[in-house]
Amino acid sequence: MTSTHKTPSRTLFATRIGVLAATVGSAVGLGNIWRFPYEAGAHGGGAFMLCNLVFTLLIGIPILCAEFILGRSSRSNVMGAFRKLAPRQNWRPVGYLCVFSALLIPGFYSVVAGWTMEYFAQSAVGALDLGAVEHYHEYFDTFSSSVWTPLIWIAIFIGLNFVILICGTRGIERASNILMPVLFVILIIFAVNSMCMDGASEGLYFLFHPDWSAIDSSTVLSALGQSFFSLSLGLGCMTTYASYFSDSTRIGRSAVTTACLDLIVAIFAGVIIFPAVFTYGGSVEAGPKLVFEILPGIFHHLPFGAVWSALFFFLLILASLTSTISMHEIVITFLTEEKGMSRRNATILECSAAFVLAVIASLSFGPLAEMKIFSLSFFSLLDFITSNVMLPIGGLCIAIFAGYVIDRNIIRTQMTNNGRLHPTLLPLTIFSLRYLCPLAILLIFLSSLSII
Ligand code: TRP
Repeated sequence: MTSTHKTPSRTLFATRIGVLAATVGSAVGLGNIWRFPYEAGAHGGGAFMLCNLVFTLLIGIPILCAEFILGRSSRSNVMGAFRKLAPRQNWRPVGYLCVFSALLIPGFYSVVAGWTMEYFAQSAVGALDLGAVEHYHEYFDTFSSSVWTPLIWIAIFIGLNFVILICGTRGIERASNILMPVLFVILIIFAVNSMCMDGASEGLYFLFHPDWSAIDSSTVLSALGQSFFSLSLGLGCMTTYASYFSDSTRIGRSAVTTACLDLIVAIFAGVIIFPAVFTYGGSVEAGPKLVFEILPGIFHHLPFGAVWSALFFFLLILASLTSTISMHEIVITFLTEEKGMSRRNATILECSAAFVLAVIASLSFGPLAEMKIFSLSFFSLLDFITSNVMLPIGGLCIAIFAGYVIDRNIIRTQMTNNGRLHPTLLPLTIFSLRYLCPLAILLIFLSSLSII
């Protein structure tokens, strides 16, 4: 993303790689490597994987195209896009929903990023090599339920976000352009390593064999939430990024490439984690702590484990940064472009709000563990409400807006770059936006409310 944000002087992404790096940078993050394995583990493995795959292809890609179309045709943030493309209708509430979700997500995301930083620091000093899985289990519980250390890491992580947001995102983009391919290569190495473990066949069977009886409304809802979360959909993140696309960016192709890379990273994460769970003896249903208990065990068994571990957690921090920057950017562009606030003040306000939420979310593993809302801790509540409720509702509104409200010609011009490209994905995208997405999302909501 560029550092110029005023509407009239928007700077565009110069290259195709720039476009891809920004969208993939936003999409690939803790959602793939931390959230996907824990959600898949909790919801029957293969069944979850299959639903997630179907939703990503049939709902995720079309909504990603819709967000790209809204952003590039309006050249503005999500609120401005609704206003410019439908001047006579009031879509402000949806815009507010998007901005509000973008405000909440860093509240739990920064906590997990903080854990990642702790694991990086401990690996770098060689203190994370503890041996058996139980030790990592104990280590994680003691660390996450303590008060100060997690909070210090959260402060450092949000501080880093603040500095990048104020100083411009060029540096982090350049760093991630070089380092994300390294993360990719490392994931491949770890995946091969996991496939050679004793529990490999059990782990891969769990991940890839859909147990039909495990597909219930909670699996389907979680898989839907995961595909939205992982693709950064439903709150206008990709709309804001697409407002910087050049006129020659191919929307359909960018959406498909982003979604495929995102899926591949999540699948690699699963291939790395599950064989290890079955080899070292952990529980697939460990929840948010799953990856933090299993990964160090994998590194423990590798030669130069501490080096691998430090390198991996470092790259994961970088991947998280490119994702959180994209969330903060939604709120900041909203405050600057819609509310006339200075970028500096908007950034201070946004980062402070994220910090307050993250502090409460982090304490909900320790001193505030008893404070349950709908029988969920504050951390899990933020995670559940945003991913499984707010993002799909945002996505539903975006699908309806693109499918029914804006001029069909805008969709055609945007998808074909003014008639220069073959409209390969156009009919499917329109069909999905008009019928498939609204229907599927509504049905999933209704079934999870046990109405049908
Ligand atoms: N997709 C990112 C991940 O997988 C998280 C993320 C970034 C996100 N921007 C978002 C999620 C916007 C939802 C909406 O880690």
